[in-house]
Amino acid sequence: MQFRQPDGSLYTEQLISTRGFSGPMSTTYHINSPTEVIAWEDVGSVAPVYLEDEPLRHRHLLTENMVPLGDAVTGRITLMGNQDLSWSQALIAEQMPHFYKNADGDECLFIHDAGGKMESMFGTITFRPGDYLVIPRGTIYKLTFDTLPVRMIAVLSHGPIEIPKRYRNEYGQLLEHAPFTERDLRPPEELPVHGERVETKVLIRARNRHTMYTHPYHPLDVVGWDGYVFPYAFSIHDFSPITGKLHMPPPIHQTFYGQGFVICSFCPRMLDYHPDAIVVPYNHSNVDSDEVLYYCNDKFGSRKGIKEGSITLHPLGIPHGPQPGATEAAIGATKTEELAVMVDTHRPLKLTADALKLEDPNYWKSWITGR
Ligand SMILES: [Fe+2]
Repeated sequence: MQFRQPDGSLYTEQLISTRGFSGPMSTTYHINSPTEVIAWEDVGSVAPVYLEDEPLRHRHLLTENMVPLGDAVTGRITLMGNQDLSWSQALIAEQMPHFYKNADGDECLFIHDAGGKMESMFGTITFRPGDYLVIPRGTIYKLTFDTLPVRMIAVLSHGPIEIPKRYRNEYGQLLEHAPFTERDLRPPEELPVHGERVETKVLIRARNRHTMYTHPYHPLDVVGWDGYVFPYAFSIHDFSPITGKLHMPPPIHQTFYGQGFVICSFCPRMLDYHPDAIVVPYNHSNVDSDEVLYYCNDKFGSRKGIKEGSITLHPLGIPHGPQPGATEAAIGATKTEELAVMVDTHRPLKLTADALKLEDPNYWKSWITGR
C-alpha cells in the first residue's frame, strides 16, 4: 500500500520470504529500490570440496593450529558437511570491508571470544562472547568485532534454523520447561536508517558462488519492517540446563533445530543427584547420527585429551563414550563446568582436506585401556 517519503515519493516495499510465499515472512520499507544495481562481479566458487573416500574413525581437529585469516565471511574454512549443512571454522583476522548476503541458506554463527555489533537491514544487534547469531537467508549484514582475532563457527543450513517445536505450545510460545525463554532471544535493538546515495558493495553467496554486487545507495536503507523473518542473538550463557536425578540424554541440550540436524549447548550445570548416579554419559552404539562437538573450554567430563577449541567428530557406525578412567573419575562430582557446542546430523558428514590439516591422528587410540 502507499507509504510515502517526506518528499511525497513512495517508499519501496520488499517482501522477505524464505519458503515461497507460505513460510515466515517480513515486509521491509526502503528509501531506494533493492533491485537497483550498477555493477556486479563474479568472485568465484565457494563450493566445499568434500573427500569421498575417508576411512571410518573418530576424529579430533585442533583449531588451535589455525592461523588468523580473512574476515567473518572470507575467513570461513569449511571442515565438514553434507546435503543439509556445512560446518565452517574461522579464526578471523580482519573486519568485513563489505556487506554480505547469504542466499544459500540460514546461518547460525557461534562467536566464541569477542563482542561486537551486527549491522543488518533489520537493525543492529550487539553481540557478546558466547553468542549464537541466527541469520535468515537473504539478510544483508556486516559484523564488526571489538577485538581480533576471533574464533567463530559458521553453520550454513539448507533448511530454516528454528526453535525446537517440543519447546513450544500450540501458539508458538516457549513453554516453561524449555531451557530458554523469549526474553533470552535478542532481536535487533535499533534501526539506523542510511538514506545516503553512496556506492556500496554487497557480497552475495548464491548457488555456492560469491558475486559482488554494487548498489548506488547504502543497502541499510530500511525505514521500518514487520514480520517473522529477522536475525537474533542468543547467548550460550543464557541456556538454562535441564538436570535430573539420573543421566539426561543429549536432547535436553538442544538449542536449535535444522532440517537434518540439531544444534545443542553443553553448559555448566549441576550433575545427576542419585547416590549411585554415573554422571558422565554411557557408551552409545551410534548408528543414527554423526556427532560434532566444539569445546569452548577444556573441561568436558567424558573426554580426555581435548583442548579449548578442539573439535571432535564421532561418526555413525562405531560406538563412542567416555575414555578409560573418565567414568570412575567422575563419580561423586556434583557439577560440571563444561561449555561446548554440538551439532548432531542425521546423515553422515564428509570432511574436507582443510579438516585433515588440523587432525590429531592419534585420537582414535584414546579409548585403548592403559594409555
Ligand atoms: Fe555422544
